[in-house]
Amino acid sequence: MTKKTEYIQARKSQLNFYREIPLYIKRDKNTFVLYKQKGITIDDMRISENTYPSVLYIKSSDKIKGIQEAQKAFNKKIENDIKSDNPEKVKETLVNMVNETLDEPRSGSLEGVYDTVDILVSDYSKEHDIIKNLIDISHKDYSTTLHSISVMALALGFASYINLSQDETRLLGLCGLLHDVGKTKIDPEILIAQRKLTEEEFEKIKSHTYRGYYILRECKFKSEYIKQLSLCALEHHEKLDGTGYPLNKTENQLAKFSQILAIIDCYEALTNDDRPYRSAMSPFDALNEIIGRDVKSGKYNKEIFTLFIQSLSTAVK
Ligand SMILES: [Fe+2]
Ligand SMILES: [Fe+2]
Repeated sequence: MTKKTEYIQARKSQLNFYREIPLYIKRDKNTFVLYKQKGITIDDMRISENTYPSVLYIKSSDKIKGIQEAQKAFNKKIENDIKSDNPEKVKETLVNMVNETLDEPRSGSLEGVYDTVDILVSDYSKEHDIIKNLIDISHKDYSTTLHSISVMALALGFASYINLSQDETRLLGLCGLLHDVGKTKIDPEILIAQRKLTEEEFEKIKSHTYRGYYILRECKFKSEYIKQLSLCALEHHEKLDGTGYPLNKTENQLAKFSQILAIIDCYEALTNDDRPYRSAMSPFDALNEIIGRDVKSGKYNKEIFTLFIQSLSTAVK
């Protein structure tokens, strides 16, 4: 029988944020020794950064608590970065934050991003540039994290353009951020494969829709949020004419937010640099391609698409 590992390596980006989580050093194969006790941060220990042990561990049972603690600290940092008018820093903190969240999208870690979106939305009217800057995030290192953040930023810009209430804006932003959360359950080798996928592999990729649905059904947001969030995960690859996946739903069966995200998701996918065999399209070409290919043939909602173009012209330079 194999013994369950009791200690796991702590993430570098989280280390400074742990207060309630004790940290350990590995002495030998099976011995771990306390390095930092509960109740203080590494900073409080006044050890200069270059003398930290290169690898520190936490108890695996502290993993979720660790993510939550780091998320709280990340949120404080985002707030301060916005106040100090530093969009670059906001972006960096947000990427770290979403990375942590998507790494362990279990109940208890997704809720932290609610506060993040809340902070971004509450400060949006004052700090218009924040969202604009997030939309401009470089797409060079494509990952689900950057894609999710970009989709969230575009969704927030759209929500603000069509004057959704603060609450709906927040919710649409969250839907954008979490629509692909099911991808965290797909073998990364398939997700980043630079070859033509087999039918079986493609089916696995498609399963990120209902996997996301189930993850989001289990999280602890309020019930109207859960309903919209899980529907967006399930339906964002559906098409109005029934040619999408996973359920071949048609227009009347699709939630409004899912129809909005389907367009934003497609636009984001065309304009980012994720695929090695083609370079990213310019926003203009991407919009043209979507119009020619999918709006005219009745796959996307024309009215939403028109509003989306208009929202882009106000949000993106
Ligand atoms: Fe997706
Ligand atoms: Fe997506």
